[in-house]
Amino acid sequence: MANQYKKIQEHLKQYPQKWLVTGVAGFIGSNLLETLLKLNQEVVGLDNFSTGFQHNFDQVQKLVSAEQWQRFTFVEGDIRNLSTCKEVCGQVDYVLHQAALGSVPRSIDDPILTNENNLTGFLNMLVAARDAKVKRFVYAASSSTYGDHPGLPKVEDSIGNPLSPYAVTKVVNEIYADVFARTYDFKTIGLRYFNIFGRRQDPNGAYAAVMPKWFLALIKGEELFINGDGETSRDFCYIDNCVQANLLAACASKEDALNQVYNVAFGERTSLNELFRMIQERVRNILPDINDITPTYRDFRAGDVRHSLADINKARSLLGYNPEFSVRAGLDEAAAWYVSNLS
Ligand SMILES: NC(=O)c1ccc[n+]([C@@H]2O[C@H](COP(=O)([O-])OP(=O)(O)OC[C@H]3O[C@@H](n4cnc5c(N)ncnc54)[C@H](O)[C@@H]3O)[C@@H](O)[C@H]2O)c1
Repeated sequence: MANQYKKIQEHLKQYPQKWLVTGVAGFIGSNLLETLLKLNQEVVGLDNFSTGFQHNFDQVQKLVSAEQWQRFTFVEGDIRNLSTCKEVCGQVDYVLHQAALGSVPRSIDDPILTNENNLTGFLNMLVAARDAKVKRFVYAASSSTYGDHPGLPKVEDSIGNPLSPYAVTKVVNEIYADVFARTYDFKTIGLRYFNIFGRRQDPNGAYAAVMPKWFLALIKGEELFINGDGETSRDFCYIDNCVQANLLAACASKEDALNQVYNVAFGERTSLNELFRMIQERVRNILPDINDITPTYRDFRAGDVRHSLADINKARSLLGYNPEFSVRAGLDEAAAWYVSNLS
């Protein structure tokens, strides 16, 4: 399996395929778009701009050639609409389904909206992809599926009870995908992302993820919060590792690799206190004049798990996943990007 990702990239360049990326205007979707276009693939993208942005497309357009950009077709639409899902699935071989409403707190504030997007939308996409007979349906699952299971590291087949409406939707996505695989001989792979970070992750809004929020606060010299005592830990995973996992999953050919879920992480635990220090150090290296900021500690957040760490051996052995970016290396890249885009 050594260099499986390189082999797949070479193969795709030689034999371009047609891809659908849902949630293409978002953080992970726009990074999938960038990589696929750089590999000369044809990409259909679907998004309703609920949490995605035109400026993500503008960035990608600058990073690819005019010829590569022409291979991208964007459909503004909603996965809650089955006919839209059918329209986009009918044009492609591979689906990378990312569209969903992220954020645990958002789902606690509005479980119905989260359910409509993440569950009804997901089922629409499954039905449309099945009917279109796509070769592979790869979807964004989530580490939130581990819920209250105390074991560390997290291993794919030991999950607990979900701790938020968001987690419920992600658990049920996996159940639906599994049932579709067994009932309709449909080929799916679920990727349980663990705190993905990097360029184009949105720092704004009430439901922004911790890392981009902290970059923004440090660059602007604004107040910065840590929920709890800061010893909460996560397995932070740089975006390029996540893109790698998606392409490997789409192109996996061994039968035993299909209709499975995989942890997508780096496999290392970082506490929020450590993360804060690492981010501050990197921002200061680029902007030596930033003000010293001491984080404000506040209450733990409802629905959050205390520690998270993935066992990534399943993805390593069945998909050939080999995360190239450590947390530190990913933070170097992310810091450079945030400083040049936010300051
Ligand atoms: N970022 C992470 O750390 C992480 C962790 C676990 C799982 N995930 C999952 O990965 C996927 C992508 O997350 P992201 O971080 O890129 O978030 P994001 O909010 O940046 O991207 C999601 C995209 O989906 C679009 N979208 C949402 N609802 C839609 C709908 N009904 N119809 C069409 N488009 C819709 C949004 O406009 C946005 O562009 C999501 O499924 C999320 O649950 C992300």
